[in-house]
Amino acid sequence: MTDSNGFIDKSFMVQPPKPTVLGVGGSPRKAGNSDVLLKNILKGVIDNNVFSRGIPLRDLYYQPCIGCEKCRKDKICTGLNDGMTLMYPQVYGSLGLVLVSPTHNYNITAWMKAFIDRLYCFYDFEDTRPRAWSSRLAGQGRKAVLAAVAEQADEYDMGFTLEAMRRPLEAIGYEIVGELPVLGIFDRGKVGQEEEVLNAATMLGRELADKVSPG
Ligand SMILES: Cc1cc2nc3c(=O)[nH]c(=O)nc-3n(C[C@H](O)[C@H](O)[C@H](O)COP(=O)(O)O)c2cc1C
Repeated sequence: MTDSNGFIDKSFMVQPPKPTVLGVGGSPRKAGNSDVLLKNILKGVIDNNVFSRGIPLRDLYYQPCIGCEKCRKDKICTGLNDGMTLMYPQVYGSLGLVLVSPTHNYNITAWMKAFIDRLYCFYDFEDTRPRAWSSRLAGQGRKAVLAAVAEQADEYDMGFTLEAMRRPLEAIGYEIVGELPVLGIFDRGKVGQEEEVLNAATMLGRELADKVSPG
């Protein structure tokens, strides 16, 4: 989002986050298992009367963080102007976040990794070495849920997928209120036939809704 001069409009950071949920899908596969999981999690969010919006990262054109450090001064990413520029107000403005990624080589997808790395602009660093850090997303009651889906049946083959989302989100200021690992699913959208998994996804969404909008 840019202002009339083509510079990034930072006004969205003046408002505190709203009790809404942003869902982010990390699969390159349209109508794949991550899409089905994200849809069912967000269904749970809506069931409990919280506004939600889901975005598949494959529909955005954006680069990974280039480490230019312009965000140190500008407090938002100004080194790149791309699809993430549109995402920042949504991330910042939503108290709740859902991340869903398939396992690619024991880890999150490149799309999800690039998305998480681009949140680097929300950190503040001191001049010490190593640099002491804090996050401008912290202390605002942000909550998140995570889901991952892998082909193999053994937990080992999901590798670091959940941890690769959990650690950075916790560091940047989210409390993880639930996680859903789904194993043994390969075919596109096949998870849609797993009633128990879909129910678990919806329950996760409801739990998140209750945390971002209690009472
Ligand atoms: C490049 C690539 C790497 C993958 N690596 C793994 C893996 O390490 N472990 C695993 O169990 N499944 C792996 N899979 C299978 C996917 O995790 C699985 O098919 C999943 O259901 C895809 O979800 P999606 O439909 O949301 O993309 C891989 C798939 C691809 C395309």
